[in-house]
Amino acid sequence: MAFTYFFRDMQTLEMIRDYVIPELRSRRYIHIWDAGCAMGPEPYSLAIVLRENMGMIFRNVKIHATDIDNSNLFGDIIKKGVYPKDMVQRIPKPIFEKYFSPADEPDHFVIADEIRRSVEFTRHNLLDLKPIRTGLNLVLCKNVLLHFKEKERIEVMKMFHDSLDGGYFATEQTQKLPEKLKDHFEPVVANAQLYRKI
Ligand SMILES: C[S@@+](CC[C@H](N)C(=O)[O-])C[C@H]1O[C@@H](n2cnc3c(N)ncnc32)[C@H](O)[C@@H]1O
Repeated sequence: MAFTYFFRDMQTLEMIRDYVIPELRSRRYIHIWDAGCAMGPEPYSLAIVLRENMGMIFRNVKIHATDIDNSNLFGDIIKKGVYPKDMVQRIPKPIFEKYFSPADEPDHFVIADEIRRSVEFTRHNLLDLKPIRTGLNLVLCKNVLLHFKEKERIEVMKMFHDSLDGGYFATEQTQKLPEKLKDHFEPVVANAQLYRKI
């Protein structure tokens, strides 16, 4: 199973809240690609942050969550939105109480329908270099690119660039933007991995 957990990277979520959400508010439809989403904690954490900060506009949000999913299990897990206690116990209490309720299975919790409906999973191999769609407002790809060779990383980031409609790209803090892509993306804040498409 892929390593992931809810609210894994608060810094990135807070940057999205502070810099991306204000711009998305005026959009009729908001399309986000979470590339390499594992079994769902990351897209669902993002969905909760968007819901908390966008109010009713959240109904216009679609998070396209994708993963190579070698286990072929992530689709079912994400669709059900049911997670065992040990995966949800680090979620901040007010958020947990608001968005999770006990599931039929003992010691399991189900995420709220409204949040679940905003995330749609598709199996997808990033190295095929085929964007899932164009006109995206945000691409989030965290703890995935580090597994690729430098050349692959650049191609995948170029694909993200092509799939964006003047929007944003966020990756993990330890990932640096390759020199070759400095004319594709500009940093939104210094020393953070949130970029705006040029
Ligand atoms: C360490 S997990 C990161 C999960 C989540 N993004 C996070 O940061 O918590 C890495 C994920 O990348 C996925 N992955 C690896 N190679 C991939 C590829 N070529 N295309 C799409 N997903 C891939 C793995 O299946 C795994 O779920």
